[in-house]
Amino acid sequence: MVNNHIDQSYSEMHRILEFYSGIGGMQYAFQLSNNSGDILAAFDINTVANSVYKHNLEKFKKKSIVQQKSIESLSISYYDSFNANVWLMSPPCQPYTRTGLHKGSSDLRAKSFLFLIDMLSKMSSPPTYILIENVKGFEESDTRNTLVTQLKNCNYNYQELFITPVQLGIPNSRLRYYMLAKKQPLILKGSDRSKIFYHIPCSSYNQPLSSDLIIRPIDDFLHDDVNYEKYSVPNETLIKYGKLFDIVKPSSRRSCCFTKGYYHYVEATGSIIQLSEDLDSDKVFNKVERKGSILEQENIDLIPRLKLRYFTENEIASIMGFPKEFSFPDEITLKQRYRVLGNSINVIVVSELIKYLLSD
Ligand SMILES: C[S@@+](CC[C@H](N)C(=O)[O-])C[C@H]1O[C@@H](n2cnc3c(N)ncnc32)[C@H](O)[C@@H]1O
Repeated sequence: MVNNHIDQSYSEMHRILEFYSGIGGMQYAFQLSNNSGDILAAFDINTVANSVYKHNLEKFKKKSIVQQKSIESLSISYYDSFNANVWLMSPPCQPYTRTGLHKGSSDLRAKSFLFLIDMLSKMSSPPTYILIENVKGFEESDTRNTLVTQLKNCNYNYQELFITPVQLGIPNSRLRYYMLAKKQPLILKGSDRSKIFYHIPCSSYNQPLSSDLIIRPIDDFLHDDVNYEKYSVPNETLIKYGKLFDIVKPSSRRSCCFTKGYYHYVEATGSIIQLSEDLDSDKVFNKVERKGSILEQENIDLIPRLKLRYFTENEIASIMGFPKEFSFPDEITLKQRYRVLGNSINVIVVSELIKYLLSD
């Protein structure tokens, strides 16, 4: 699955800062990219996400790398002191989401990212490589214009991309905006900054979405040892909202983007799984609906036969490319687990982008 053919720069030891580190998606992506390097510090204000990060990624480290600090509260000289050559980041997306208020740079949640952009021209040792992830919609924002102007001023070559895991054969939609930037005279091979690419240049995953793309079945990501009772969708929820769920089967080769509202809200927050392959959920829910308020027991009894359940947090982590060893500290609730995963990134997509970015 992992493509290794961009391997020119593997001997260089990169010095990395991970901003908005959450549960560590960027660090996992870096590990998977087969580059050498060290995460020097990871910055995030979310205590839950930080505890997941520490639980998995600080186990074998001598000192803590997670900094529970707001990014804009630290000084430029402090960031300079790391002498980092790589910045990886996924800044808050709320100022840019299509369903939000679209306030862009005037949204308070954009402040820390604007601080980082501004800092690029003030540092004594700015990064050579930058990777930024955000939602579709960012490309139309004033923050993106500020970013591009600053990258040009500071002599970076750059490429913007839209990539979804589906392009890499992963049955999950998560179309995201990416900005890759590299300090001149280094270049991004095959780039064209006048366009936003829908493919990763120089990668074996260089096709845009097409009908002959081979996508893995959902079954590849399901776990056998799931406590069905714990993850089943309550019957009352299904009677009320059954038709609003996005339902996939083990043989399906797609699923919706898992968001931080999964398990809490029904619509557009991520798919649920129907374990009985042979039943048609639309037919079942149509029958339940047709009866209006007086529901016939016979139709209600059909619902449990669908065997509908939520994806477990570990299954979602696998779909998002986290390794098998990834786990949560016991004290983190199920709702919190879904929330931090929904905020994270697809590790495999980002690792492919890192390979492209760091190949010189
Ligand atoms: C899109 S999520 C990043 C997720 C991360 N890449 C991961 O793999 O989990 C954005 C993160 O930014 C953090 N954040 C928001 N504003 C911040 C600030 N001013 N300083 C530090 N972290 C911030 C949030 O707590 C959240 O975890």
